[in-house]
Amino acid sequence: MANVLIAPSVLSADFANLERDVKMINSSKADWFHIDIMDGVFVPNISFGFPVMQAINKHAAKPLDVHLMIVNPEKYIQTFKDSGAANISVHYEACTHLHRTIYQIKDVGCKAGIAINPHTPIHLLKDVIKDIDLVCMMSVNPGFGGQKFIEHTYQKVRDLKQLIQENNANVLIEIDGGVNEVTGPKLVQAGADVLVAGNYVFSAKDPVATIEQLKNI
Ligand code: DX5
Ligand code: ZN
Repeated sequence: MANVLIAPSVLSADFANLERDVKMINSSKADWFHIDIMDGVFVPNISFGFPVMQAINKHAAKPLDVHLMIVNPEKYIQTFKDSGAANISVHYEACTHLHRTIYQIKDVGCKAGIAINPHTPIHLLKDVIKDIDLVCMMSVNPGFGGQKFIEHTYQKVRDLKQLIQENNANVLIEIDGGVNEVTGPKLVQAGADVLVAGNYVFSAKDPVATIEQLKNI
């Protein structure tokens, strides 16, 4: 059985009951908390910032996997680390000096990830694949939870797996957007290591059982 990591996205939690939802994730088979930070510039939506992330961190018993959908992420790396980040993913499309930002993330002691939009081809990662720990592959256009999965993602997962193997790199493939009981197994079969799930988990009658179902893929 593949040991897929499950990262529920707190974006779909009930913010008026955040402590309850964080503890639900603690008690589940989830591996990470996925934290979506949106600035209303890089994406057409605003999610939440440092105070909310720090409140999540206060109760979270698992690593925080932070996905920055913001411009100029290099300005805030230290603050995200201080707010509890274990992994920090910045968008390829938001970084002019991507290699520098990757090392900034590593220098503060976090795992470095690159997030890519659905239109960004895998081959653009070639010159940094050995420098990173994670690729957060968007399978929807970033900005909102609960969107429809883009089918082309399966081929991109296979292409990324090949790039990682060719370069003998040690990189996790994380898929973000539209993960459910149909897309999840196909993604794992294609080579995904980490599944992010927001709407599918939090709209379920039994979120703990839904997380377990994904974990058992
Ligand atoms: C989208 C976010 C995702 C989102 C996934 O911009 O990056 O993490 O919460 O949500 P679902 O699983 O609902 O597609
Ligand atoms: Zn995300």
